[in-house]
Amino acid sequence: MGRVITGVRPTGDLSIANYVGAMKPIVELQDTYEGSVNVFVADVHGLTDQEPELISRMRIDTMRSLLASGIDPERINVYLQSQIESQTDVVASYLDRHISTAELLRVPTLKDKAKKDQGVETLNVSLLRYPVLMAADIFMQDADEVPVGQDQYPHIEVARVLARRFNREYGDGSEIIVVPNVMAVEGLRIAALDGGGKMSKSNPKGAIFLKDPIDSIGSKIGKAKTAAAGEMNETLESHFTLSRELSKTQDQRDALDRLYDAHLDGHNVMGSFKSLMTELVSGFLAEFQANYDQISDEQVVDLLEVGGVKANEQADLVLGRVRKAMKFV
Ligand code: TYM
Repeated sequence: MGRVITGVRPTGDLSIANYVGAMKPIVELQDTYEGSVNVFVADVHGLTDQEPELISRMRIDTMRSLLASGIDPERINVYLQSQIESQTDVVASYLDRHISTAELLRVPTLKDKAKKDQGVETLNVSLLRYPVLMAADIFMQDADEVPVGQDQYPHIEVARVLARRFNREYGDGSEIIVVPNVMAVEGLRIAALDGGGKMSKSNPKGAIFLKDPIDSIGSKIGKAKTAAAGEMNETLESHFTLSRELSKTQDQRDALDRLYDAHLDGHNVMGSFKSLMTELVSGFLAEFQANYDQISDEQVVDLLEVGGVKANEQADLVLGRVRKAMKFV
């Protein structure tokens, strides 16, 4: 039986891109999937570029948002990365010797970061090790499928490489560490509304946050970059993708298809498209925010206590198996 895992860093308010990239696939499978599903807040990861005090304030709220986006704690095991920090960190340190600094520096997210921070010399070690710790997160739950947005694919690739190397070295022909796969939401990369790269917390003007006031959405989407009638670009394609992802009815999907075709045929439909996109995004946010208000921080803490116990049991199992295979017991 399969096992699914995904994680989100508690570095700020979640955006609608986080929802469609990572949470929605979980919400869609949770009622029918037979295996175990794990969703965690990657608070230890948050420390790579945020202050610990901020992270410890944000993590409960991030989990509350995940629950409000439809994650059902009856079906899904929820926990904080720090609840299994001791086991995860040990496994990550065993993995360290199976990957070189040069390989890690080739991971696109790190390459970009190093460029921005003017060279590798100033890159902190936790950033460099990020993909190794992320691999350990996945391995600790024996997950074989990981729903994530496209920006995370290189990290999953590092995890696959590490799992294979570990198994080859210590597995004696068997799989000690499960080799994970991206759970396919075909290359999902939601673009910033203003066309400035991917939608991300670091460009708030181009992002729609789950807690944005509903009455601000019309003007945000009103200013979104589109394309001239008859032309298509990555940004507009992404606005259509986001709208399709948020559609609930066949009528809405048909309306989007008609607008898409009309636009490509050279008709001026961007006004109508933006109205429909605003309606779809606002509808989703209204539902999210109503759910969010229904959940208390105390409830989240209680759920994490239960989830943490389960996550620990599984993490102990994996750590034991890893040590035994390494003959390091
Ligand atoms: P994070 O917190 O940056 O993002 C959480 C999830 O949101 C997705 N996402 C997007 N998807 C589509 N379009 C976008 N513009 C977009 N922006 C963000 C991300 O791909 C991600 O799935 N390293 C991870 C957290 C993590 C993790 C893990 C995930 C740590 N350990 C183990 C899975 C398994 C991160 O920083 O996500």
